[in-house]
Amino acid sequence: MRSSFVNETVVRLLPLVPKPLVWRFSRRYIAGTSVAAALAEVGRLNAAGFSATVDVLGEDSRSVAQVERSRDLYLEVLAALEAADLDAGISVKLSELGLRFDPGLCRRVLDELVAKAAAGGRFVRIDMEDSSVTTDTLEVYRWARTRHQPVGAVIQAYLRRSERDVDALLADGIAHVRLCKGIYREAPELAFQDPDEVNDSFRSLLARLFDGDAEHVAIATHDAGLIAHAEEMLAERRVPPERYEFQMLLGVAEGLRERLLAHGHRLRVYVPFGDLWLAYSLRRLKENPQIAGHIISNLLRPR
Ligand code: FDA
Repeated sequence: MRSSFVNETVVRLLPLVPKPLVWRFSRRYIAGTSVAAALAEVGRLNAAGFSATVDVLGEDSRSVAQVERSRDLYLEVLAALEAADLDAGISVKLSELGLRFDPGLCRRVLDELVAKAAAGGRFVRIDMEDSSVTTDTLEVYRWARTRHQPVGAVIQAYLRRSERDVDALLADGIAHVRLCKGIYREAPELAFQDPDEVNDSFRSLLARLFDGDAEHVAIATHDAGLIAHAEEMLAERRVPPERYEFQMLLGVAEGLRERLLAHGHRLRVYVPFGDLWLAYSLRRLKENPQIAGHIISNLLRPR
């Protein structure tokens, strides 16, 4: 009870923390602010046996100029990955590509990015954002699949609707899915709030995807219990290596990711970079109130 009160307080105070202090603690979750920094991180990960997916940080673009800036950065990333022959794709947020203010523009830009990625044999993952855009995001994904192959969606285990969404993707033969718990704050009518229920949903969706012969499943979690369960499922069902991978965020659970690699699994690391790192960092810090609490106590400590 007390610790959840402390966590809530920390979460509420975070936006007041000075940016340089947040940056100090966020550094581990972010490759840097430039394309060169992202490429260097991908190079290190590849050398250690991991593949990567690069995310140009940004969300909720409000103007064509913002969308074009993100598009140009993604194109630069794709060209740089190609030139350096690195093992990585990209992850995009549709709100960053204009979904909320110009859905047509969003589709055109996504189309351009997937075409460019496909030409280099790379994959584009469409991240899933909050529930106000779930339906639209899945619709854009379906549309993208009618035009290109190397593009995938994300399913959030905390959403009550996810079982239906998985079944629909399986029925249409386009279940190329990253399964994660879900990071946004959602209403109880829409999302499970109890961590046990979220975990149950994660396990059940994973079984549904494997049993439904999903095209590909990316198991995106750092939860050791869920990972152990997933490993059992993979062994029981003899899922071939080309049908799944594990995924983790940069800077999180590095010991666990080494272990998965040693067990012979493929593992992809999500590598975010860019100037717009604050919203992403605040979400990561809210997930890990120990670090957040450290920031706040630093802030309050007399100098
Ligand atoms: P959980 O939160 O229970 O964490 C398990 C353990 O991992 C913790 O006990 C802790 O040890 C460690 N851990 C987790 N977060 C940490 C942190 N920030 N710092 C340090 N340790 C930490 N969500 C979404 O809504 N849409 C999306 O598109 C994506 N995409 C995505 C891609 C990838 C590759 C990953 C791994 C995750 C996402 N997510 C996401 C985020 C996801 O929904 C979820 O919020 C986080 O992965 C944390 O949940 P876990 O499954 O790791 O479990």
